[in-house]
Amino acid sequence: MLPVSRPALPPLSAFAELLEDIWSSRMLSNFGKYARRLEEQAQADLRNPFVRALVSGDIGLVLSLASLGLPEGGECLVQSFTFNSTVNAILWNRLRPVFVDIDPRTLNVDTADLERRVSPATRAIVVTHIFGSPLDLDRVLGLARARGIPVVVDAAHGYGAEYRGMRIGDPRLGDYQVFSLSGTKQVTSAEGGLVAAANAGLAGRIEFRRAYGFQNDYVSRALGLNGKISEIHAALGCLTLGEADRVVVERAKKAERYRARLGSVPGLAFQEHLAGCRSAYKDFAILCPERRDALAGQLATDGIQTKTYFRPLHAMPLFEPFRGRGDDLADTEAVAARVLCLPMFNELSDADIDRVSERVARFYGRG
Ligand SMILES: Cc1ncc(COP(=O)(O)O)c(C=O)c1O
Repeated sequence: MLPVSRPALPPLSAFAELLEDIWSSRMLSNFGKYARRLEEQAQADLRNPFVRALVSGDIGLVLSLASLGLPEGGECLVQSFTFNSTVNAILWNRLRPVFVDIDPRTLNVDTADLERRVSPATRAIVVTHIFGSPLDLDRVLGLARARGIPVVVDAAHGYGAEYRGMRIGDPRLGDYQVFSLSGTKQVTSAEGGLVAAANAGLAGRIEFRRAYGFQNDYVSRALGLNGKISEIHAALGCLTLGEADRVVVERAKKAERYRARLGSVPGLAFQEHLAGCRSAYKDFAILCPERRDALAGQLATDGIQTKTYFRPLHAMPLFEPFRGRGDDLADTEAVAARVLCLPMFNELSDADIDRVSERVARFYGRG
């Protein structure tokens, strides 16, 4: 089966060398050499000295919202088309999600809808760079700053993406930006995450909260949990992070090849990217003209794995009670019914792309 994603790993010997160093140091966690090195690498890459490493992107989102000190029950605007983690983080913090629709072309938050729904009760805005494609941060940050509302960006898919001359993760691009280094991402530490804060004060709050709420003196000053990344995970992350630029450029080429081969399928559309931005291409998403599930089934029969990934969160049992009466989330629902992510990973070959494209085109009578 051709997988939809596949982690690219460094040579085992390179990892083994770092493991030997960890073994002899007997330092397995607590921000030793490799967690610190991972942070330094990410700080240099993202041009942000306030990047902190964590055990996962999920915990990064929980702790980012916790660090903002928002009042219980405070409203958070959040798109419905994102991963469950994004909204879970709001609920773990006893905040209240208010769902926002997406733009059916970019699949990112619909900034006009965001503007419509923002109110004096809004306490935070939580937005996601869907599939690694930068969302319109000028509009989101503009409307948030005009009202003094903090912005948490779920950049789980965004390592290596660029926004108008800045790296996603640059301190100007959100109060907190949260990256995932899980195994499905373009760079990975098996499990892991990074939080890029906007300033030293916000980064300091993450430092307390990711380590049970205290620092060296064991005195709790904030409610924390165990969000520490182990040295073993961090070491793997150090090896893959160094490849980020090359990997993202390669992924863009693969996406171009898909576009060239699928562009003539009537009614088939691609996720559109904002001008002046570089997607990290965590995924390659198409919008099927029709019969998406039948296409996915046919591809599976042909030995090709695909994923839809996101379903409208506002329709799920846990989140449905937060849906406002008369909420119009029509574009979220329409996109969720049409979207399909085709195989995209660092080692995907041109021949693989051609085979997948040919099967898709044939399904729609263009083979
Ligand atoms: C959009 C989004 N946010 C958050 C997460 C959670 O990240 P992690 O798996 O590192 O906890 C994911 C995971 O894939 C994701 O896709």
